[in-house]
Formats: sequence, structure tokens, C-alpha cells
Amino acid sequence: MGFITNEWRGTEFFKIHDFHHIEYLVGNAKQAVHFYKSAFGFNPIAYCGPETGIRTHVSYVLKNNCNIFIFTTPLSSKSEMSNWLNKHGDGIYDIAFSVDDACDAYESCLSRGATGVKNNISSLNDEGVYKKYSIRTYGDTIHSFIEDSKYSGCWAPNFTNIKSDDVFKTEHNSLIKIDHIVGNVEEGKMDEWKEYYENIFGFTNFVRFDDSDISTQYSSLRSIVMRSKNWKIKLPINEPASGLKKSQIEEYLDFNEGPGVQHVAILSDDIIDSISKLRKGGVEFLDTPDTYYENLSDRVQEVDEDIRILQNLKILVDRDKEGYLLQLFTKPLEDRPTLFIEIIQRKGSRGFGQGNFQALFESIEKEQALRGNL
Ligand code: FE2
Repeated sequence: MGFITNEWRGTEFFKIHDFHHIEYLVGNAKQAVHFYKSAFGFNPIAYCGPETGIRTHVSYVLKNNCNIFIFTTPLSSKSEMSNWLNKHGDGIYDIAFSVDDACDAYESCLSRGATGVKNNISSLNDEGVYKKYSIRTYGDTIHSFIEDSKYSGCWAPNFTNIKSDDVFKTEHNSLIKIDHIVGNVEEGKMDEWKEYYENIFGFTNFVRFDDSDISTQYSSLRSIVMRSKNWKIKLPINEPASGLKKSQIEEYLDFNEGPGVQHVAILSDDIIDSISKLRKGGVEFLDTPDTYYENLSDRVQEVDEDIRILQNLKILVDRDKEGYLLQLFTKPLEDRPTLFIEIIQRKGSRGFGQGNFQALFESIEKEQALRGNL
């Protein structure tokens, strides 16, 4: 059964503050930026590429409140990034954390068995100190440690400011920050990655779901959630469990050609505003059957929102002992059925919508069947 515990069983090996940003590798960053700008309300703030002395790739930094997404495209087929893209398609390559001392965090992780990535940046110039050190995690995903509290330059060395184009400025003010980021790993590997986050980061496991919690007639999954001491970083990890037909996690693993980031959840402080604007911007969400709303008030009791509005926007609700949450999931954002985004608003609940998994699974499987992958 799923459970949530407040108990801290981890060890904080080094000070880790929060998510710093996520970095996507994409085939055409210029166009991806346009989509995240017009559909999700992000604003481009910084850029690096040939014009700033970078010959190998271009990167655009996009910001919406505290959400920072970077989109990077390699400029040559010989780049390692091109191999990554060729294998996985557009997706998230780096989940970066904000730390006090990036070099210390990196050395600390290496001393407990982590594998380093050779893209370290340690820069000291007129603009101050900027450091970035990275280690490997599941699949071909990495975690970077960013130290930039004493850096006054634009984003990072070699970046230049992008002046915001007011004509297209479409801020979504209710999308606050990254709430959690979920990885999919192969069957039987979930507990290995749980141990990785315990041993390397000192994170603790505070929720676990097994296939009796999350299953339909066809497919099921197991999930655990790892968190940092201050609760800012929450990293659920899923693995497929055997069902009658191919599970959504297996479909992901097939199309992503291995483990990787399944979804990023963005915290909203007004999900009705967020979903209305995202739908207007053309974002497609998973369908919620009307039957879901029939007994909703029995399941979740009193909520502040008007259930008719929630039903119109197809927003899901779940309640646990601490409170309730509202959430909705986009359809995959790429042609491969891999990465998607969740919008979540928390009203006391620190859960992940366990009660919605069943309804959600049924909806995902309808989509999977349409793709002939069920
Ligand atoms: Fe989630």
C-alpha cells in the first residue's frame, strides 16, 4: 500500500537547496523555444551559440517564475549530444540542483561511488564565481550541481541576455516552480536507483506504491519517491510491473530506448487559471472520463473549487490525510510517446495523486491503444 512518512532517515552529505533548472536536448531549439513560449508562457532570457563563442551547440534559457528550462541543440553530428538525441529523441538530459559548493558536492558524490561527467565548468572572472559539476544518473540522464550565488553575469559564462519580445509575451503567473521530476527505469531496477539516491545524495524514501495500488486490467507499475531533507527536491522513480499487456512504462522505455525522465510536475498556485491558459495556448491534456466526476464529492469531500469548472477543464482531484491536491497531465510533448508535463496544485497534500492513478491509467491506455502499443 502507498504510505507517506515525515520521518527523515537520510543523511545530508552536502547542502542542496532546490532544483536549479532542467536542460532538454532537442533537434531544433529555436522551434522548441517558440512552443514553450507560446504554449507554456516561458520567456527566453539568455542564449549561447556561435555568436557568443560557442561552436558546438546553441542553448536558450527560458524562465517562467522560478521554472527554468534550457533547450540545447548540437550543431554537429559528431557531438556526443547528437548521439544522445539520435537514441532518445527530444527529452530531458540534465536535472540540475542548486548547491552552496558545486565542487564539494561533486567530490562528495564521487567518493560514494557516483560517476562524473566531463563537462565541468569552474569560472572565476570579473563577474564572480560560476561552477557547474555533473554526475550520471539513470539512463543517459545527468545531475548537475550549480554554484552561482556569487555570480553577477548573464546566466552562465558565454551566455548573453535575450531581450524579451513583448509582442509574444504570454506569462503564466500561476506556474510557480518545479514540484517533482519522475524517472522511468527498467523492471527490477527501481530499488537499485532508490539506493543510489540514498547513498550518493543522502535522500530518503518517503512514499512507495506497489502494483496493488496502481494497476488496471492491462498494466501496472511500482513507484517510490525520494526526497531531499528540506522537501524541495522530490524524485519519484517508476518501474513497470507485469500486466496482461504492455504497460505505459514499458511503452516509454521502448520509445526512449532506455530509462529517462518521464514527467516534470510544475507547481501552480491557481490550477484553474493555469489549465485555462495552457488549453488556450494549445497544450493537449490527457482526457478525464466524465464518469470520474460522478462520485467525486464522495471521494474528496469539500473542496474550495467549483466541481463543474474542474470537470470542464478535466482537472483531477485527490485527497489524503493532510489535505487535497489538484492535477492534470499533458499528452506526450514529442512525437515519441515519452516526456510529458504535469500541473499540480497542493492544498495541504504532499502526495502524488495516488487515488487518481487508476483513472489516469485508464486514460493513458486509451491513448496507448490509439498508437497500437497496448
Ligand atoms: Fe507526478
